[in-house]
Amino acid sequence: MTLLLSAVAAALPAASTKRDAPNLPFSTKGRDILDSNGDIFHYKGTNWPGHQEIMIPEGLQHASVAEIVAWIPKFGLNSVRMTFAIEMIDDIYSNNTSQTLEKSVVNALGQENGTLVLEQILENNPQFTNETTRLEVWDAVAKELADQGVILHLDNHVSKAFWCCGDDDGNGWFGEKYFNVDNWIRGWSFISSHARENWPTFASVGLRNELRKATTSEPVDWYTWYVHMTAAADAVHEAAPDALIFFSGLSYDTYIDPIPLGKTLNGTAGTATANKTATFVPSNFAWEDKIVLELHKYDFEVTQNSCPTFKANWYKQGFQAVNASDPATQYLFPVAITEWGFIQNGTYWNQTTYNKCLIEMVEDYRVSWMQWEISGSFYLQTRPNRTPNTIQGPEEFWGLLNYKWDAVRDPVTVENSLDKMIAALD
Ligand SMILES: *[C@@H]1O[C@H](CO)[C@@H](O)[C@H](O)[C@H]1NC(C)=O
Ligand SMILES: *[C@@H]1O[C@H](CO)[C@@H](O)[C@H](O)[C@H]1NC(C)=O
Ligand SMILES: *[C@@H]1O[C@H](CO)[C@@H](O)[C@H](O)[C@H]1NC(C)=O
Ligand SMILES: *[C@@H]1O[C@H](CO)[C@@H](O)[C@H](O)[C@H]1NC(C)=O
Ligand SMILES: *[C@@H]1O[C@H](CO)[C@@H](O)[C@H](O)[C@H]1NC(C)=O
Ligand SMILES: *[C@@H]1O[C@H](CO)[C@@H](O)[C@H](O)[C@H]1NC(C)=O
Ligand SMILES: *[C@@H]1O[C@H](CO)[C@@H](O)[C@H](O)[C@H]1NC(C)=O
Ligand SMILES: *[C@@H]1O[C@H](CO)[C@@H](O)[C@H](O)[C@H]1NC(C)=O
Ligand SMILES: *[C@@H]1O[C@H](CO)[C@@H](O)[C@H](O)[C@H]1NC(C)=O
Repeated sequence: MTLLLSAVAAALPAASTKRDAPNLPFSTKGRDILDSNGDIFHYKGTNWPGHQEIMIPEGLQHASVAEIVAWIPKFGLNSVRMTFAIEMIDDIYSNNTSQTLEKSVVNALGQENGTLVLEQILENNPQFTNETTRLEVWDAVAKELADQGVILHLDNHVSKAFWCCGDDDGNGWFGEKYFNVDNWIRGWSFISSHARENWPTFASVGLRNELRKATTSEPVDWYTWYVHMTAAADAVHEAAPDALIFFSGLSYDTYIDPIPLGKTLNGTAGTATANKTATFVPSNFAWEDKIVLELHKYDFEVTQNSCPTFKANWYKQGFQAVNASDPATQYLFPVAITEWGFIQNGTYWNQTTYNKCLIEMVEDYRVSWMQWEISGSFYLQTRPNRTPNTIQGPEEFWGLLNYKWDAVRDPVTVENSLDKMIAALD
């Protein structure tokens, strides 16, 4: 499979790497994101995970930081959603001695395989050593993104570092096994401040990826969402006042309509939030002109809906935020589809209506988006509900790049999905 795919994968023509510096900071006005010149900006990006066990961006055993970053403009993209784990920041606060590249890799992969992968990382990236810390790797990635003119969107994907997301995996909802709210807010204060000071194209944060119900956690309701999300936004804004702040919805970030509709955000009867309510009123916040709503969309449900049906159903999940003529809309916000994607195998794009309707949605509503994902493979992946739980070096068939991160996995899929998503915003 790997060989076959590498054989058909073709490199894109080399593009000039240096780009004009993006016009930061961004702010929002109504349904739009504006750059510092007042021009409308749309994120056209991909995801580059860095939240799994080793807690550094994926792929560095196959290519250099500069080579990986170069793919982003080559694909025609202007931004990247980098995912991180709060555990990385917790380790900084506890002075954990395992933060070096050597310890991070060897602890995750074992002495034998870890030593090999570490050697590969250092061979491809001779600017690092065994003693380079995770945060220094992130700094190098951020510097390279800036050098190549790529906007950095920083997403808190998980608290404990492993693959996201599953029901009851401990990372899903405030107060769940691994989701300590204080550590999360502390983590945001630290990393927002660090990013503001050190990462020139750092433009925005996603407060928490794919919030979802949990059996053992704080009550799962919009009131609890309001309390913690606004507190985290305060922390980010204090540390990095220029950053946009992306708010994800509930049920794996599939809906956020109560926010643009200005609904009362309720607690849950029979719990600590019984009878409690709040309303998300943008003008109450110091970060009023920094709010973006994010949604995820995958092809897991009815996969053959006609586009009018697909779009009408999805509209109700939060796109009211970008439609000033909908009488139900109370507050306008920009919307970003921060995850969408499917297997890059040359045929899937045309097997369901998802790809076609997604492109139409972006054309109709002109919203930002980020494809899932650039990674052709991972260092390690732990998925609680899979056998085996943990696999070293698994291939990512949804990745834009191939297993070795040195060519496009499937140009036909890119031509028919990514390229058309870019064209949809032209
Ligand atoms: C970590 O180190 C810093 C600086 O030396 C120190 O102030 C802090 O108390 C230490 N934290 C812990 C948890 O040991
Ligand atoms: C330090 O990190 C190691 C490896 O990730 C972990 O096993 C350990 O529990 C951490 N120690 C503390 C005090 O957090
Ligand atoms: C780096 O770490 C690896 C893995 O633990 C070890 O085999 C190697 O000797 C170390 N290299 C140096 C220069 O310390
Ligand atoms: C909260 O409760 C009120 C009163 O029952 C209801 O009108 C409103 O739609 C609820 N909010 C949400 C987000 O469901
Ligand atoms: C919530 O309101 C109901 C109806 O007013 C009341 O019976 C109940 O005691 C209240 N619950 C709490 C926890 O305050
Ligand atoms: C915006 O809302 C209006 C009023 O509900 C509706 O007629 C129109 O179709 C909506 N626009 C889009 C692009 O969905
Ligand atoms: C691509 O993936 C889909 C979904 O798994 C499958 O139905 C299809 O046969 C695959 N195409 C190829 C060429 O393998
Ligand atoms: C698949 O491709 C054919 C030929 O280009 C086209 O007619 C059809 O609409 C496509 N189907 C989907 C679901 O996009
Ligand atoms: C170590 O790497 C080898 C070769 O890639 C692999 O077969 C093996 O499963 C790995 N060991 C563990 C513990 O995953």
